[in-house]
Amino acid sequence: MSSGSAGLAGVVAGETAVSTVGKSGAGLTYRGYPIEDLAAHATYEECACLLIHGDLPDAAGLEDYRRTLRARRGLSAALRRVLEAMPAASHPMDVLRTACSFAGAETEAAAAGNAGGAGAGAAAYEPAAIRGQADSLLALLPGALLYQHAFAARGERREVSGGAPSLAAWILDLLHGTGAASADQVAALDAALILYAEHEFNASTFAARVVASTLSDFHSAMTAGIAALRGPLHGGANEAAMALIERFRDPGEAERALLEMLGRRELVMGFGHRVYRESDPRSPVVQRWAERLATSGEQQRQFAVAERIEAVMRREKGLFPNLDFYSALLFHNCGIPTPLFTPLFVISRVAGWAAHYLEQRDNNRLIRPTAAYTGPPPRHLPARASAPGARPSARPGA
Ligand code: ACO
Repeated sequence: MSSGSAGLAGVVAGETAVSTVGKSGAGLTYRGYPIEDLAAHATYEECACLLIHGDLPDAAGLEDYRRTLRARRGLSAALRRVLEAMPAASHPMDVLRTACSFAGAETEAAAAGNAGGAGAGAAAYEPAAIRGQADSLLALLPGALLYQHAFAARGERREVSGGAPSLAAWILDLLHGTGAASADQVAALDAALILYAEHEFNASTFAARVVASTLSDFHSAMTAGIAALRGPLHGGANEAAMALIERFRDPGEAERALLEMLGRRELVMGFGHRVYRESDPRSPVVQRWAERLATSGEQQRQFAVAERIEAVMRREKGLFPNLDFYSALLFHNCGIPTPLFTPLFVISRVAGWAAHYLEQRDNNRLIRPTAAYTGPPPRHLPARASAPGARPSARPGA
């Protein structure tokens, strides 16, 4: 493969009206709105509505949308049984992937039942129904994640329906108890969810679009997105970034260890980006929130460690923090356990994946690139004794 297309870097693989990622000087925008404005003045639910339903809701529309999402929270008895059957030590990403896949089976089975048993079939495409499925999945996943989290830890069968209208507040209530999180923690998590919601043709979105392009069902595409997001080069980087920051007692120790890591040409998770070359516009937003939430001496020490890691990466490699680096501290300072960081990214990104699923299906052509072959030249199978009943050879002239 020529290096020009390694990892499809720089390849325009399709068109989108969902977001811009620093192209034509527009910065990062969701359907035209700069993410700086959305993160400062909007809520996650407004952004989800913008992405899934195409427009920002007005105040009454937002209330309605929040009511809809809240009403769809909760898990079927069958899904609860599936979650309880998972190994207690399952990674929360496995929990989300399984919950998403199972919800897909339930959705398809219900559609088949409604169609008199004939089955809606994966190819049946009804945009309004897909938007409904996206809202339902967004409402379901946090409960599935935190139901299994409590069951695995304490055997507790917790209630995951109802709850606070805002997704960020509901997640923190489920983790810490109703109302225990500060207003700053709720606002910070809401901002992080906004920033994680959409990012053009990143690996997980592209995976979801490839699945959509085969006319497969919505949940299959979302399951593929979750699978792609899990890796440390993509969503998993926020967990690895936290593990890195937690290794060091002070900035000096961090600097010495970083220099050794770079000397060994190790990747430092949470730095660099395929599309951005100078900075990630989402990083300053989460950095400010991480600093504001750092109220204890321990949190301020970790923030100082993170800043030193950033300084070393800029000085030594010319690399900048991406969204995942300071998000790790933001999540940590909200009291969120590290293994839940990437799952929160998934929950937020369902809105973006859904927008891309719809866009792909609205104007579909199968995504099927070609490869430059680098294997052996054509060759014959070694001669072998023909057995009775052997298949006739398909080789021309043989
Ligand atoms: N740490 C150390 N070196 C790095 C890093 C890093 N985080 N990122 C890039 N480099 C190095 C590469 O090894 C390469 O070095 P080389 O030329 O000596 O081989 C050089 O910088 C150029 O790399 P790029 O071509 O910019 O990297 P690419 O576009 O292939 O990869 C990627 C981008 C995967 C994000 C990469 O920067 C990386 O692995 N970062 C760490 C993982 C990470 O943070 N992922 C999260 C992405 S953002 C998100 O998902 C929200």
